[in-house]
Amino acid sequence: MKILITGAAGFVGSKIVEYLRLGNTEVELLGIDNLSRKGSETNISILEKFNCTFVKGDISVQADIDKLPKVDWIIDCAAEPSVLAGLIGGSLDLINNNLVGTFYLLEKCKRDNAGFIMLSTSRVYSINELNSIRFIKKDKSFVIPESTSFPTGFSKNGVAEHFSTVAPISLYGATKLSSEIMALEYHYTFGFPVWINRCGVIAGPGQFGKIDQGIFSFWIYQYLLNKPLSFIGFGGEGLQARDLIHPFDIYTIIQQQIYSPIETAPKVINLGGGIENTLSLSELNHFCSLNIQKDKKIGSVIEGRTFDIPYYSTDYSIANLHWNWKPTISAYQILEEILDYGRNNLDHISQIN
Ligand SMILES: NC(=O)c1ccc[n+]([C@@H]2O[C@H](COP(=O)([O-])OP(=O)(O)OC[C@H]3O[C@@H](n4cnc5c(N)ncnc54)[C@H](O)[C@@H]3O)[C@@H](O)[C@H]2O)c1
Repeated sequence: MKILITGAAGFVGSKIVEYLRLGNTEVELLGIDNLSRKGSETNISILEKFNCTFVKGDISVQADIDKLPKVDWIIDCAAEPSVLAGLIGGSLDLINNNLVGTFYLLEKCKRDNAGFIMLSTSRVYSINELNSIRFIKKDKSFVIPESTSFPTGFSKNGVAEHFSTVAPISLYGATKLSSEIMALEYHYTFGFPVWINRCGVIAGPGQFGKIDQGIFSFWIYQYLLNKPLSFIGFGGEGLQARDLIHPFDIYTIIQQQIYSPIETAPKVINLGGGIENTLSLSELNHFCSLNIQKDKKIGSVIEGRTFDIPYYSTDYSIANLHWNWKPTISAYQILEEILDYGRNNLDHISQIN
């Protein structure tokens, strides 16, 4: 079995390579990455360590994909993953990376009769619908109100797959939703397997934390580097909350999708930490003040940012029902791992931040 991992030098891609290798010493792993993400070049040594052949190439360049050997599966982890991407300047770059690249990969799957696994995002869900829910403030966080009149697809468990995907969802979300639609069409037209995993915030050690992507790592690294931080939007108190999931818990379902697929399971599923692993910025900050520095001053900006949402938590009931899947690594375990990684790699982190 030969598996191509795109974006292999990225945060999730490099972790998936590691777990695939630890789970199967025989599988042939091939990774492609254009190294556009600052710091991704340092992950090439991880790919080598886990015996993954690395090719520098761009998934949005047809020739780069066409010259790759035949494979059995493609796990697509290559993307410009920021919700703010494409806002200033390069919208076309975003579309090339996240959508045109998908076409070339799907064409390769068709040629090779290979399966396609896509890491999609919770950012496919309607921003206005999410903003229409009146989340309530409890202690340091927004929480789901007691209510029986939520929008379709929303419940006390969070956002399910049938929640609205009506625009606006951000240009990033739109490239992902379009890619999902095309992947499903290729599946039904040409018959190769397709699994689409819509992930909430993915967080863990080794992440290149930025303010617009990887917020949990970003916050912890800013503390470690003694750099300024502010609560932005929603009253400037850090009440906005997200669930978080460790890449290992993404791997466990990918592993099933490849090695023991359940053919009748829905093709599109949500994966995320769920309400039990949802933390607000203020709760994240509290973790940092307990573990890193007690008296750090946090700024407050009342005005929000484009595309921001107050709360997102994944309803993963479908994944649980069909794949018997649930997250195994808790939010606070993830924070501990990031902190540990940050303390041991501070020089590297300061160079890429
Ligand atoms: N990190 C999250 O919170 C999160 C949440 C939901 C979904 N996702 C999805 O998971 C996937 C991986 O995200 P990540 O957090 O590892 O991001 P990342 O930025 O760490 O990794 C992405 C990698 O893709 C590479 N890349 C970008 N464009 C490319 C191209 N055209 N050709 C080849 N390589 C390219 C980058 O150099 C980088 O190494 C993405 O598809 C993203 O949309 C991430």
